Amino acid sequence: MANAYETKLWGGRFREDEDALMQRFNSGRCRTDWLVEPDIQGSLAHVAMQVKCGMLTQEEGNILSAGLKELLGEYQQGKLIYGPEYEDVHTFVELNLIRKVGEVGKKLHTARSRNDQCNVDMKLYVKAQTAGVIGLIEEFQKTLQRVAEENPWIMPGYTHLQRAQVVTFKHHLLAYYEMMERDKRRLSNALEIMDQSPLGCGALAGTTHSIDRAYTAQLLGFQGGACKNFLDGVSDRDFVLETMADFSILMMHLSRLAEELVLWTSAEFGFVVLDDRYTTGSSIMPQKKNPDGAELVRGRTGRVYGDLFILLCAMKGLPLAYNKDLQEDKSTFYDALDVVTGSLQMMDRMIGTLKAKPEAMKQAVKKGFLNATEVADYLVKKGVAFRDAHGIVGEIVIYCEDHGKAIEELTLNELLTFSPVFDETIYSYIDYDNILQKGIKKEML
Ligand code: ARG
Repeated sequence: MANAYETKLWGGRFREDEDALMQRFNSGRCRTDWLVEPDIQGSLAHVAMQVKCGMLTQEEGNILSAGLKELLGEYQQGKLIYGPEYEDVHTFVELNLIRKVGEVGKKLHTARSRNDQCNVDMKLYVKAQTAGVIGLIEEFQKTLQRVAEENPWIMPGYTHLQRAQVVTFKHHLLAYYEMMERDKRRLSNALEIMDQSPLGCGALAGTTHSIDRAYTAQLLGFQGGACKNFLDGVSDRDFVLETMADFSILMMHLSRLAEELVLWTSAEFGFVVLDDRYTTGSSIMPQKKNPDGAELVRGRTGRVYGDLFILLCAMKGLPLAYNKDLQEDKSTFYDALDVVTGSLQMMDRMIGTLKAKPEAMKQAVKKGFLNATEVADYLVKKGVAFRDAHGIVGEIVIYCEDHGKAIEELTLNELLTFSPVFDETIYSYIDYDNILQKGIKKEML
């Protein structure tokens, strides 16, 4: 194994090189280019700590830090390629540092293992990306608020997808604002819980060197200091799981809204028209305008649930501490993040550019007895017990169906055959525009 150190961080105890299949199987499933920067960031903190604790001279530290920074620059400019020959991102960075700065580069890995290193990288990445997702949620909330304000129209509210009671389009959109608010809080909470540095936990058992874990934690911006337990520090992936669990709930919300867009844009509803830019056509049916953006948000939601489930399953039988199964956190998180960021952006654009059709909404409100509950409320105000009022209105609805009329189209004489307490005031009480002026319903305006 003469050349092992050209592409590997190990090899000393091996007589034979690994099989090409082993190499591909080990590293090929998910390229982690996105970890190059966090890996270098972690190494820079480690070097600073090594100098502080007397493991490197200041000069050695300077050489390593400058080398790492140069490496990052070259990587970002595309001069240095993280190719498939490297086992992982740590290998890529360390070996290239050694190539660049020579012998002193071999001191970088003192008092560190890839097991604590990979978790530091992931935490830095998950933290930054989660903050980014929170930002996207906030953008989307602003859009929801704006579009809600611009569209105060009355529309049917549904239960069981049957027309139920009158609501406003504004209130309907703001329901999603609330969901996004909780998603944001869940992610912020996850950020707070994960904010401890695993660097220094070593492979699983710390190190005989007197390192300063609090210092690296501070340099890397971990508010909660260093992980308390070495075994836990290297084998914990709660932060990835929790973020993906929060992503799953977030995607469930976006998927429900996507489904509503699909329904609302159908001719059967006709409540909303999506901007041409977020729809597609058919290769055969010239008239088609399909809500593909919404359908893809809905369709990809399952990927995020799947990613969460893959990692949960990968971890449930793992003894402490590090096991290679944990590497599956990379492909799952990266995929989930990709779906979440794309879906938030797509939903923001679709909602931000939609055109509401207040007339169609109003027409739908008028059919389907959406004021039946208010007729019952009216009877209650006149002294009828609610359960009796409910029965009376039920009979009125049957009568209306048989005669092809809405409740407000019945004459007072017709209404009086169902209850003697009706008078002329019933008509304004159940007028759709008036309904929303009553009681707490005003909040929907
Ligand atoms: N590439 C691994 C991961 O991301 C890190 C290396 C783990 N350590 C080891 N001894 N194989 O999980």
